[in-house]
Amino acid sequence: MDKLMINGGQSLSGKVVISGAKNSAVALIPAALLADGPVVIENLPRIQDVQIYYDLLKEMGADVLFEDDWMEIDGRPLKHLYIPNGRVKKLRASYYLWGALLGKFGEARVGLPGGCDLGPRPVDLHMKGFEALGARIENQNGVMSITAKQLKGARIYLDLVSVGATINIMLAAAKAEGLTVIENAAREPEIVDVATLLNNMGANIKGAGTDIIRIQGVERLHGCRHTIIPDRIEAGSYMIAAAATQGDVVLENVIPKHLEAVTAKLREIGVEIDEDGDTIRVRGHGKYRAVDVKTSPYPGFPTDLQQPITALLTQAKGVSIVTDNIYGARFRHVDELRRMGASIKVEGRSAVIDGGKKLLGTKVIASDLRAGAALVIAGLLTEGTTELEGLEHIDRGYEKLVDKLYSLGAQVTRDSSKRTAH
Ligand code: UD1
Repeated sequence: MDKLMINGGQSLSGKVVISGAKNSAVALIPAALLADGPVVIENLPRIQDVQIYYDLLKEMGADVLFEDDWMEIDGRPLKHLYIPNGRVKKLRASYYLWGALLGKFGEARVGLPGGCDLGPRPVDLHMKGFEALGARIENQNGVMSITAKQLKGARIYLDLVSVGATINIMLAAAKAEGLTVIENAAREPEIVDVATLLNNMGANIKGAGTDIIRIQGVERLHGCRHTIIPDRIEAGSYMIAAAATQGDVVLENVIPKHLEAVTAKLREIGVEIDEDGDTIRVRGHGKYRAVDVKTSPYPGFPTDLQQPITALLTQAKGVSIVTDNIYGARFRHVDELRRMGASIKVEGRSAVIDGGKKLLGTKVIASDLRAGAALVIAGLLTEGTTELEGLEHIDRGYEKLVDKLYSLGAQVTRDSSKRTAH
């Protein structure tokens, strides 16, 4: 069982290059299967979720080549359409195989996905979208069987703003007959990235990035090259880490516009932030104000940075309230932060943080990906040693975390030798 050993108390300083976006990567890879030719995706992060997708594609018979930070995917030889279990349970985004296979073959038989345990994560809106396009759906003991003789464009209103449902409907509708209109669509930059790839493949999608997306079905999609956008959640995590350690860090390869809500909130806390082209410089000073944070769909404050910012707010004097309007039970990091000395209570979908208390390094476990990021940040700002387990979650979403932190001056090592019970 690997552990991260963090000797905290060092200010982070220097430059860090942000990787390609995880949440784009895991949608672009299945999207590429829709093409009748090879698709090359560049700037892919080397993270576990991408590796699992690569293994899944191989298992399904696609021609895939994964070198450095690019992958070439040719979905033409694809044969294995029944994927009940196994790898699909290892990541949430395996649900995009529903939309991609349905769009390609008119049929998908894929198990319900796994991924981080953030409380209930229903998929009813995905199914509602497929049904509106004319698909028949059966849940066969946890394997969703989704079939359609001919998908037909439709007007689909999403009751809730959902990233996954918006992308899945785009995948299924790209080659459907006629016009599909998604209303109350999610507006995340990753959705725009997927629409850009599909359009480069020959699709006709307009309005991605707004709450109405129009997809005029086309008969065929072809191969192309595509470069993934930078990971705004990885970037936000490093911004918060820089602030938490009173550091001075320049993030390279970012799109500052994608981070507006995060930048605004960090400035409100008292962090100095300068944007210049595709870089952001973050300077922390330590005298932070308590603030309230409420997560909401893009362009609001992202739920994926709710846990990391909670770690920072343990250092802001006064009471901060962090409310998660997307995942009301995403608070499994709180118990671990408390073990480090933080004063936080969970009330409903909010964490109430009485900040300004010194944290102490101790043994903690990451229960999910962003809880892991929060605990890394807590470990970095704490004097003393933090032993962090549960690294398999962090590996799903942060490329070269130890190398990047080390290059910023953090004293952090990955220990795979010792096996401890916890
Ligand atoms: C995506 C991101 C995840 C992020 C989340 C919210 C990926 C791979 N994951 O997850 O990192 O935390 O967006 O920004 O991109 N909902 C339903 N029914 C559905 C679908 C969703 O009720 O059919 C609810 C969810 O429970 C949640 C809200 O809608 O409360 C938003 O979820 P959604 O945007 O779909 O999240 P994911 O796509 O799973």
